[in-house]
Amino acid sequence: MNLLLGFLFFLGFSSTVSAEEKFDSHLLPRPLILEYPETQDILQLKGSDDAELQLQCTSWRFAVEANNLNPWKTIPSKCADYVKDYMTSRAYTYDLERVSMEAGTYAKSLQLAGDGMDAWIFDVDETLLSNLPYYSDHGFGLEVFDGHQFDKWVEKAAAPAIGASSKLYEEILGLGFKVFFLTGRSEMQRSVTVENLKNAGFTYWDKLILRALEDHGKTATLYKSEKRSGMAKEGYRILGNSGDQWSDLQGYAMSNRSFKLPNPMYYIP
Ligand SMILES: *[C@@H]1O[C@H](CO)[C@@H](O)[C@H](O)[C@H]1NC(C)=O
Repeated sequence: MNLLLGFLFFLGFSSTVSAEEKFDSHLLPRPLILEYPETQDILQLKGSDDAELQLQCTSWRFAVEANNLNPWKTIPSKCADYVKDYMTSRAYTYDLERVSMEAGTYAKSLQLAGDGMDAWIFDVDETLLSNLPYYSDHGFGLEVFDGHQFDKWVEKAAAPAIGASSKLYEEILGLGFKVFFLTGRSEMQRSVTVENLKNAGFTYWDKLILRALEDHGKTATLYKSEKRSGMAKEGYRILGNSGDQWSDLQGYAMSNRSFKLPNPMYYIP
């Protein structure tokens, strides 16, 4: 064991020395670092102490937000407290505010044509409306998604607004964009969705697009791409798109800029 450690130390030490000897740091943008990636799933590592768990769950969340982890069904059980803490703390609020602020800066930088054809798309759930009251009763993504239970919650029209998105929405309207709400909710939920949006302060939109019968069974990526494509064919220039799922943003007829809101609770393909 000691011999192995000594050998590893020797390897590390000698590569540092040779790196310094061979490379002039002025010629390279950064020092050459030789490291080999861990092959194990980091969430399987023993690390039972809190700081280690925190790091592992932050790493998991980063992989989720960057869409490197794709698809995934539920949050890792060991990250249950982590996700709960994130969702109910200022961390989530700051992340939302950051996205809203950057989207607003971009929107203000654009010169709109003034012909009423410049459009911004907003997703609804976890973008304009927060279903946190529902998810707090369902383990913040620890439970496998139950569409039947979720629909009962939707019927209450009680989802509060996401504050940072309300601010962006007002800015976008003020700048003169056409505003389209594009949601994976069913057309059967139109009236309750309208009621909820209005209750939450989203009182105006140019189009609210929900899944029609023929859209059921399509991935969100396909359904939303088809709808964006339809807008583009009508002559709209989709300059901005805000959503908490990559499937709100990716596919085809993509927006010039996409703004990904945080959501470590669930994944929709
Ligand atoms: C948006 O993207 C289209 C297609 O790439 C491009 O022609 C257009 O100039 C872009 N508009 C803005 C405002 O960046």
